[in-house]
Amino acid sequence: MKFFIDTANLDQIKDAQELGILDGVTTNPSLMAKEGITGKNNILKHYVDICNIVEGDVSAEVIATDLQGMIREGEALADLHPQIVVKVPMIRDGVKALKYFADKGIRTNCTLVFSPGQALLAAKAGATYVSPFIGRLDDVSSNGVHLISEIRHIYDNYGYETQILAASIRHTMHIIDCAKVGADVMTGPLSAIEGLLKHPLTDIGLEKFLADYNKGN
Ligand code: E4P
Repeated sequence: MKFFIDTANLDQIKDAQELGILDGVTTNPSLMAKEGITGKNNILKHYVDICNIVEGDVSAEVIATDLQGMIREGEALADLHPQIVVKVPMIRDGVKALKYFADKGIRTNCTLVFSPGQALLAAKAGATYVSPFIGRLDDVSSNGVHLISEIRHIYDNYGYETQILAASIRHTMHIIDCAKVGADVMTGPLSAIEGLLKHPLTDIGLEKFLADYNKGN
């Protein structure tokens, strides 16, 4: 399972990179705004700053919602850095843009996916990644992890190579549950990733080992 961090915060990206388990970064306009990164040029520069920290894929989202606008923005984003993956919303022109980018060899992440049908379309259009938003589904009393398992089933039926990127992860159990049902990638906050390493028995066990070692010293 690939681990992406879902933030535009450079310190958190560096922390995750230093942990040695980071495979990439996802951002969106809201995450940029949260870090105070506004204005086209600042946002483009920030993408490059992120690419210079991590070795893996960095999703950068188009703002246009028409085909020509998405193509223009997506090509400019892809030209910024080889690690950039163009994030395209699951709308009618977005599907056309996914196909256009696939034909051009530009990698994409289809975002704002909430149903198996949308995921099927994204794969048909040649998306590199599909991003089902599991936390936002849970927020409205739908089962986000179940959507991941439905998409896994469909993609495996036909051998689609689009990678299932479980997005909108809110906590550590989301990561475990997505791993169980076969998500290819998860993207979440650093806190959810760090939750994976915590167990009280580990802390108690280590304390005892160290105390016993020190008895002889
Ligand atoms: C990532 O690609 C998504 O934009 C992100 O995971 C959405 O997360 P949220 O639902 O917590 O805003």
